[in-house]
Amino acid sequence: MIEVVLGDITEEHVDAIVTAANESLLGGGGVDGAIHAAAGPRLAEAGAAIAPCDPGDAKATPAFELDPPVRHIIHTVGPVWEGGADGEADVLASCYRRCLQVADELGVRSIAFPAIATGVYGFPSRLAATIAVETIRSTPTSVERIRLVAFDAQARDLLATAVGR
Ligand code: APR
Repeated sequence: MIEVVLGDITEEHVDAIVTAANESLLGGGGVDGAIHAAAGPRLAEAGAAIAPCDPGDAKATPAFELDPPVRHIIHTVGPVWEGGADGEADVLASCYRRCLQVADELGVRSIAFPAIATGVYGFPSRLAATIAVETIRSTPTSVERIRLVAFDAQARDLLATAVGR
């Protein structure tokens, strides 16, 4: 049920892709920037209409100009890493859990996640990979295919190790 792939999440052929957003849902850099560029300007308009999104929460919009089968973009806001003593791990786990809950509400059967919070937000990649896999495995969901999309080989290896445990 959990696949680890190396690539660009905007090229994933799934029902829903998750973006690592900020609370404004207006877009930014990193994976959020790539997804907004691919989905077009209506994504930021739709995001603004349902913003703010709290850290650890998730909200869905249409996928606009992203090609089928992608129908939904699920925006989630990861924790900014402050050293680990401020509940960052719980917020990251909540991102994965809430994205799956929102996916279930939408009838999503396949979903792709980026490595939420491990870029600009500075969350350590190894710990983030463990949290992602453990949270997905402990969250009841109707989603049948869950793809963890790494943007570089190191992230891919960390995710594959976490899945292999
Ligand atoms: N496909 C898949 N993964 C990607 C892509 C892509 N096209 N581009 C970047 N990534 C990876 C990064 O390598 C990193 O591992 O996404 C992961 C998350 O990094 P960020 O995109 O920086 O997200 P995050 O750390 O959660 O920071 C969020 O950055 O872009 C802004 O608006 C966003 O303010 C928010 C903050």
